[in-house]
Amino acid sequence: MKFVLLLTALLSHVFLLVWATASVQFKFVSFYNSDHNDYDGGCCDDFIGGCDNFCDNYFFVCIDGDDTGPLGTSCDMAAITTEKLHEDNDNFNFPSTIPNAIANPYTIRVDSWSGSMQVFVRVWDLDTQNADDEIDRDRRTIYEAAARNLSSATWQQYSLGSRSQIDFSFEVRVYCDSYYFGSDCSVYCIPRDDQYGHYRCDTNTGAKICYSGWEGTTCNIDVDDCASTPCKNGGTCHDHVAYFTCACPPGFVYADEFCEYDDCAGQPCQNGATCNDLIGQFKCVCPLGYFGDLCEVDIDYCINQTCANNGTCVDRVDGFHCLCETGYEGFLCDVETDECSSSPCLHNGTCHDLIGKYQCACQEGYEGTHCDLETDECLSSPCRNNATCEDELAGYHCHCVDGYEGDTCEMDIDECASFPCYVNETCVNEINGFWCLRLNLCDYDPCMNNATCVDDYPGFICECAAGYGGKTCDQDIDECGSSPCLHQGTCTDHLDGYTCLCPPGYGGEKCHSETNECNSSPCLNGTCWDLINGYVCNCTAGYAGVLCQNEIDECASSPCEHGTCVDELNAYRCECDVFYEGTQCDTVIDKPCALKDPPCQNGTCENTNSANDYNYKCTCDDGFYGTNCDIDSKLYGAVVFMIGKLEDKSAYETKLANLLQKLYALHSRVRRDTGETVSVEIILTEDYVKSTDSSPLTKVTFLAWTESGYLQKDTIEAWIDGASTDLPAQYGLDIYKGSAEPFTGNPSELPPLVACSNLVK
Ligand SMILES: *[C@@H]1O[C@H](CO)[C@@H](O)[C@H](O)[C@H]1NC(C)=O
Ligand SMILES: *[C@@H]1O[C@H](CO)[C@@H](O)[C@H](O)[C@H]1NC(C)=O
Ligand SMILES: *[C@@H]1O[C@H](CO)[C@@H](O)[C@H](O)[C@H]1NC(C)=O
Ligand SMILES: *[C@@H]1O[C@H](CO)[C@@H](O)[C@H](O)[C@H]1NC(C)=O
Ligand SMILES: *[C@@H]1O[C@H](CO)[C@@H](O)[C@H](O)[C@H]1NC(C)=O
Ligand SMILES: *[C@@H]1O[C@H](CO)[C@@H](O)[C@H](O)[C@H]1NC(C)=O
Ligand SMILES: *[C@@H]1O[C@H](CO)[C@@H](O)[C@H](O)[C@H]1NC(C)=O
Ligand SMILES: *[C@@H]1O[C@H](CO)[C@@H](O)[C@H](O)[C@H]1NC(C)=O
Ligand SMILES: *[C@@H]1O[C@H](CO)[C@@H](O)[C@H](O)[C@H]1NC(C)=O
Ligand SMILES: *[C@@H]1O[C@H](CO)[C@@H](O)[C@H](O)[C@H]1NC(C)=O
Repeated sequence: MKFVLLLTALLSHVFLLVWATASVQFKFVSFYNSDHNDYDGGCCDDFIGGCDNFCDNYFFVCIDGDDTGPLGTSCDMAAITTEKLHEDNDNFNFPSTIPNAIANPYTIRVDSWSGSMQVFVRVWDLDTQNADDEIDRDRRTIYEAAARNLSSATWQQYSLGSRSQIDFSFEVRVYCDSYYFGSDCSVYCIPRDDQYGHYRCDTNTGAKICYSGWEGTTCNIDVDDCASTPCKNGGTCHDHVAYFTCACPPGFVYADEFCEYDDCAGQPCQNGATCNDLIGQFKCVCPLGYFGDLCEVDIDYCINQTCANNGTCVDRVDGFHCLCETGYEGFLCDVETDECSSSPCLHNGTCHDLIGKYQCACQEGYEGTHCDLETDECLSSPCRNNATCEDELAGYHCHCVDGYEGDTCEMDIDECASFPCYVNETCVNEINGFWCLRLNLCDYDPCMNNATCVDDYPGFICECAAGYGGKTCDQDIDECGSSPCLHQGTCTDHLDGYTCLCPPGYGGEKCHSETNECNSSPCLNGTCWDLINGYVCNCTAGYAGVLCQNEIDECASSPCEHGTCVDELNAYRCECDVFYEGTQCDTVIDKPCALKDPPCQNGTCENTNSANDYNYKCTCDDGFYGTNCDIDSKLYGAVVFMIGKLEDKSAYETKLANLLQKLYALHSRVRRDTGETVSVEIILTEDYVKSTDSSPLTKVTFLAWTESGYLQKDTIEAWIDGASTDLPAQYGLDIYKGSAEPFTGNPSELPPLVACSNLVK
């Protein structure tokens, strides 16, 4: 069975038969083209020369239910072409009826819903002058589940647009048509109750649900209600739709429509029970006191022993009765009987209710079960000390003998209470009398601090423990009172004693002994002398310091005048320089030439009396110079040649010294600034001539020295040899090299001076 719908396709004028089971609704929502351009990027209307004129849009929507064939050509669900929506408008919402008489939303009925469909949209600008411009085209597949019906279907929103400037918004909803069910709306079900079936439809799945009494695939088979043979006793069953009826055989009394007999007819229930007839059986409803199927059993209510306090239970038809023991009452004997209720106690006695009896607590003076007898209080002999008892109502009176008193004459009268004795006596009470006793004050413990008390009538003497004093030994004796601590020691009093805190330097119990600080032997090199609170070190000769810890440096005063001081213990020794003698090297040696190692090295020593010259004089051997003739001219005598005859020896020595001074500074950088002075002494002059022209020369041999000593010949000559040529000119000298030979003739025949050169080496 298919529901048949007739649809008319507007354009083609062709009638189509469509088995529609589902509806798809397509709603045009809005369109927006922000740059007003067409699909190729040009303006849709540009008469003025820019995209200042908006488009005249119309649309083509193609909806395809399957993916076969080129999209936009199959359009098997719908092909919708609108007319122009607006003049020059690129931003609008679609109306409910779109030009070209298109209902919006547009409803498409399909014979089944596959769950998806494709939407393809094209937009054109309508141009009257030339061909329409295509504005945009775009497509997408949308997926939706079919709703149960139109009222539960919801719109889903989508949009299309090949460029970000384009937004074509639409909505789609899908729902099953009436009587179609399932996700693809393919299950058809229409409820019916006629010759073709008797059923209703499951609201979710569309499955057929048979009405009562029907079965089969289309619920058209009548169920046989007689199948279980419900009719009894030969009754005939007649089947109806969803029920049956029984036709019972005649001649019997039936209890019901199932031809059942009356099971209570023989009155089976006993003891007056009610009988209820059932199908094929009966039920007895028992009266109170009976049970059993026929109510034949009598209930024993005493079986659970419900009577209290040993009451005896007596069973009855509809219950039980309790026979109570004496003293109990009530239905269950659970109430105790009040035997005091009759007020049996006399003379205001108190009644105490007991179980099955009572007890009277009598007022004083009465006794007996009901407090009916008066009591004789003298029977218990309450009076003491031979007194006489006299009975009274609820009491008695005692008549005391002399010397006693009190209610029962129990008290001995205190005859001392009136102080009959002297104050220095003690009163001793007796029965019916007293006597006075001499007083011992020690009995009152007058002595304190463990003192011993000695009775000394009429007084006492306290023999104090050590450290205590006073009449009753109550005072702590101040042992510091006698100032026992010597040497200003501080006394602290104690019980039976004292302690002394001694000043520095003193010790002992009474600070009487002086401390010997020398006991620790503090002096390192000396004798220790003990002082009060101190000591003094008397140092051994040669030591000093508080502890004599320092050895005295006897050289500190520089006692050696011309010599080196050597420090010794408590002494010093002078090691004298040459030519000096004496303990303090203050005396020049008298005859140095007599020394084992005389001062003149290469010469003759002669003792003089001139202390300034150390009392000697050297006469040097040839070739030796100096005070001690220790300068060997071979080593120290440098040689230069002078042009001409040497006239002024000392002037030449000065020039030579100045030159050497400069060279010395140049070659002795370290000494450059020390300012040592070069001195020169010419020791030999000899006549020479130049080899080239025999002009006169003087060979000058000289010694040069500074404060540090003589300069060696090789050193000086090396300096001169290496001197730069401009240097000697500053000192009135010049240097060049040539050859010379000794002049052997008479000095007066010396050849004349030729050139003005100065110095030849
Ligand atoms: C539509 O479907 C919903 C959900 O299944 C259901 O509750 C409602 O009763 C249906 N309405 C009608 C009119 O059938
Ligand atoms: C006795 O006690 C039992 C248990 O409580 C109860 O089931 C039963 O009915 C009682 N019998 C009667 C006669 O009361
Ligand atoms: C019940 O009787 C027993 C036995 O004679 C006895 O021991 C008990 O005390 C009695 N109970 C009462 C509440 O009288
Ligand atoms: C009993 O008590 C009442 C009230 O206290 C008193 O008036 C009465 O005299 C008393 N009787 C006896 C016999 O003590
Ligand atoms: C009571 O009297 C007897 C006999 O006269 C006597 O022996 C006894 O000492 C007396 N007792 C007192 C406590 O006086
Ligand atoms: C006791 O005191 C009395 C009265 O003051 C006096 O006469 C007597 O001599 C005193 N006794 C002694 C032993 O001192
Ligand atoms: C008295 O003597 C006792 C026992 O020798 C001793 O314990 C106590 O400290 C002493 N008391 C005084 C105040 O000396
Ligand atoms: C001086 O004291 C030091 C250190 O006690 C000791 O070694 C040395 O022998 C002492 N010198 C003398 C001369 O007693
Ligand atoms: C130190 O000792 C010397 C030598 O024994 C002595 O003459 C001198 O008096 C002493 N000095 C002191 C302060 O005792
Ligand atoms: C110079 O004196 C030294 C030391 O006295 C000596 O050895 C040496 O022979 C002497 N020279 C001459 C040439 O006498």
